[in-house]
Amino acid sequence: MKKSFKFSALDRQKEIFMRGMGNRKPLIPVSYAELEARAKEVLSEENFASIAGGAGKEQGMANNVEAFSKWRIVPRMLNDVSEVDLSIEMFGRKLASPLMLAPVGVIEIAHRQADIAVAKAAAKTQTPFIISSQASFPTERITAEMGDAPRWFQLYWGKSDALMESFVDRAEQSGCEAIVLTVDTKLAGWRVRDLDLGHLPYLRGKGIAQYTSDPIFQQLIHEPLSSPISKPKPSLGAIATLLALNWRYEGNFFKNLFSGLPLKAVRKFVDIFTNTALNWDDLTKLRESTKLPILIKGILHPQDAQKALDYGVDGIIVSNHGGRQVDYNIAAIEALPDIVRVADGKVPVIMDSGVRSGADMFIAMALGASAVCIGRPYVYGLALKGASGVEEVIKNMLAEFELTMRLSGCSRVGEISKGHLWRDSGEGLSIPERTGH
Ligand SMILES: Cc1cc2nc3c(=O)[nH]c(=O)nc-3n(C[C@H](O)[C@H](O)[C@H](O)COP(=O)(O)O)c2cc1C
Repeated sequence: MKKSFKFSALDRQKEIFMRGMGNRKPLIPVSYAELEARAKEVLSEENFASIAGGAGKEQGMANNVEAFSKWRIVPRMLNDVSEVDLSIEMFGRKLASPLMLAPVGVIEIAHRQADIAVAKAAAKTQTPFIISSQASFPTERITAEMGDAPRWFQLYWGKSDALMESFVDRAEQSGCEAIVLTVDTKLAGWRVRDLDLGHLPYLRGKGIAQYTSDPIFQQLIHEPLSSPISKPKPSLGAIATLLALNWRYEGNFFKNLFSGLPLKAVRKFVDIFTNTALNWDDLTKLRESTKLPILIKGILHPQDAQKALDYGVDGIIVSNHGGRQVDYNIAAIEALPDIVRVADGKVPVIMDSGVRSGADMFIAMALGASAVCIGRPYVYGLALKGASGVEEVIKNMLAEFELTMRLSGCSRVGEISKGHLWRDSGEGLSIPERTGH
């Protein structure tokens, strides 16, 4: 039986204020700035940097957020908004709302329960969860927490096609309903905060559970590396890291130490992750590997959107990876309208990067997005309160979205249109109704 999620912004407000009557603050801060600040307090310097950081001077990351403020919402009055419906439909399935959880790798650095906790919150709120190729638990273990709640799988397509096929196969077996191919991360960006601290969690065996649990990867480990990887200079720190790696790896610590398997796994992961040769024609190969809808994540240029359509993708995620790849990147919300125009209602266009509030969601939907993803906001909720923290972030986002809708005169998501927006350049207020998915 399908679970439903009953939600009301008014109940959410009541819940928070009733708590306040007992002198109790909300479980996690409602304001994004405070949420991030509190997460910073509980995380180590290295782990916070890995989550919060962006590429270069982080202007691209800032653009994602600032670009929302170029738009003004123009509420419409005296529509009957006594009933409100946040649901949307995508790929033939009704979804509780247009909010989705972006794939975020290596979240064990935020909380021990990592993707398991996120899966629980996603299932409870019926919010689609896009499981990362770099999750901290295998897909099978994550989806076991989700009943029949919606989940997709995000694919990083490295050097091994066989591994890519195995990941896709496992996702299908685990009830994932779409494959999201991330195309903006052939290489990791120049992330200054991580570089300054010399900290890369993968080298410590974190965020590689999808690989180490995979039968194809377990064979690949024993094959020679395609290029040599230098070893760290012997030091107390290096020995401590190696011991921690052996503890973390599944199985017996001493057996791991003796076999050297954990270190071999990390080196093989580093060896095959980067696939700079990936190109448009590879999409055909992916199409042959699955019957699931394929979405492409990381599109910012309308010509790339057109190309993706020509190659038959089923959906586009407009994203710049939260500003983590290219400094000074165009904000995802700036890239959205042209891509919506190209997609022309043929496939869903999901907006990702920089969404911090329900009002941001409203602007993205008004500009023609079919849904939006959030990344860092839910990871901070996770860092503070595990599954309950993620649930709180989702509910706060939905509450503001619902209130913004109703206060702007909309009772259904499909009623949100560019006619609710205005911009100094004279844009907005012209298109009466957006095409929905
Ligand atoms: C710590 C971290 C890890 C990420 N890992 C992945 C990943 O494994 N796969 C992926 O497609 N995107 C990954 N992303 C990007 C997110 O899916 C998403 O695009 C981004 O977080 C959205 O921006 P926001 O954080 O501003 O909401 C990651 C982002 C962060 C912050």
